[in-house]
Amino acid sequence: MVPDEPPLTAHELGEEAAALIDELSRISAEEDKLTRLYLTPEHRNAADLVARWMRQAGLDVREDSLGTVRGRLPSSMPAYGEKCLLIGSHIDTVIDAGKFDGALGVICAILAARELRKRGIDLPFDIDVLAFGDEEGVRFPTTLLSSSALAGTAPYSELDARDANGISVAEALREFGGRPENIQDLKEVPEKLVGYLEVHIEQGPVLEREALPVGIVTSLAGAERHWITVQGEAGHAGTVPMDARKDAVSAAADLIVSMETAAKSARSDGVVATVGELGIHPGAVNVIPAQVKMTLDLRAATDRPRAAAIDEIKARAARISRKRGCPIEFDQFHEVVTSPCSEIFQDAAKRAIASMGIRPFRLMSGAGHDGQAMKALTDIGMLFVRCRKGISHNPSEYVSIEDMGMAVEATVRWVAEIAQQEMKA
Ligand code: GLV
Ligand code: MN
Ligand code: MN
Repeated sequence: MVPDEPPLTAHELGEEAAALIDELSRISAEEDKLTRLYLTPEHRNAADLVARWMRQAGLDVREDSLGTVRGRLPSSMPAYGEKCLLIGSHIDTVIDAGKFDGALGVICAILAARELRKRGIDLPFDIDVLAFGDEEGVRFPTTLLSSSALAGTAPYSELDARDANGISVAEALREFGGRPENIQDLKEVPEKLVGYLEVHIEQGPVLEREALPVGIVTSLAGAERHWITVQGEAGHAGTVPMDARKDAVSAAADLIVSMETAAKSARSDGVVATVGELGIHPGAVNVIPAQVKMTLDLRAATDRPRAAAIDEIKARAARISRKRGCPIEFDQFHEVVTSPCSEIFQDAAKRAIASMGIRPFRLMSGAGHDGQAMKALTDIGMLFVRCRKGISHNPSEYVSIEDMGMAVEATVRWVAEIAQQEMKA
């Protein structure tokens, strides 16, 4: 196939990506901030918009039973068989989010697929562009559900998980137009896959420090999440003496600081502990708190220091519990082990980036991504894009138009490199 028009420049691709990012960011549950949670009406609208963009890019679109939008670009060389390369990211967000986290990867994949088609680049495999819905794990305690379903690691029990209003995943899915009963039919056949690629903002400061627009990810840090319940005893705030209280908030405060200290003093780099949600029961100004429920998000560059850190945290919790007479329970609801990226994909990315005159640079990911679930299914590869000051999960998240353009161009060349490799294999 001969291209009939000159390819867009990186700057033009960046401008296109920026316009799409803005359009998607306007779909939010809140007027003045971006909040788009899994299986909400906003997610529905975002999925429909992304499906429209995929169609405009020339992709065959469908939506799977868990709400993942999929756009297919068929192989230009069917004689090579029926393998498929998956490229995607997510369209759900955190609360009061930035507009690039997830969205940039989906938009990059759509634009790259269109460019591959328009430029007539030989593809010995199909490409499936994926827009996942449950990466952030904010609405339900089911992080990475949509990608886990493709990997075949999402059990039926996940559908019973409930949001803060008591709505289950299964109920929300039916409302969304999905088919929860099909969750286990979504599993992909590993032999038919080339791998899973994802482009994502770095969400850290390393690329900015290196003065590089894009970087190659070596591995994704392991992570675990827990609900922690601290049990105290309700009492009158005016009458119970200080030495006769079982104050759940005071015990929780001790524990929060102690978890921070445990993470800071872990001997290995990269151990990070965060308490991001905290609820006080009964929550009245004149009642000694009876119970605190909070989340712990614990991550590390590799799995052993993370295991050591949770052991240390639980030992500290036991000491605090004894000292204050407040039982403390941990209930783990998420774990992913460290996920290395494929060397073959890293090398292909290196060649692609070098061909653009950019110094190839490798870095790891401390953030979670759908690749962690996809790793159970197939090889994964990731490209990071520089974001200003490394700020993310924050409305001031920012990626320049130039860097977005570089990311789209790098994705096109990365896929072309992988295609060359497949043809040689
Ligand atoms: C997803 O953004 C995560 O790393 O929590
Ligand atoms: Mn993300
Ligand atoms: Mn995120």
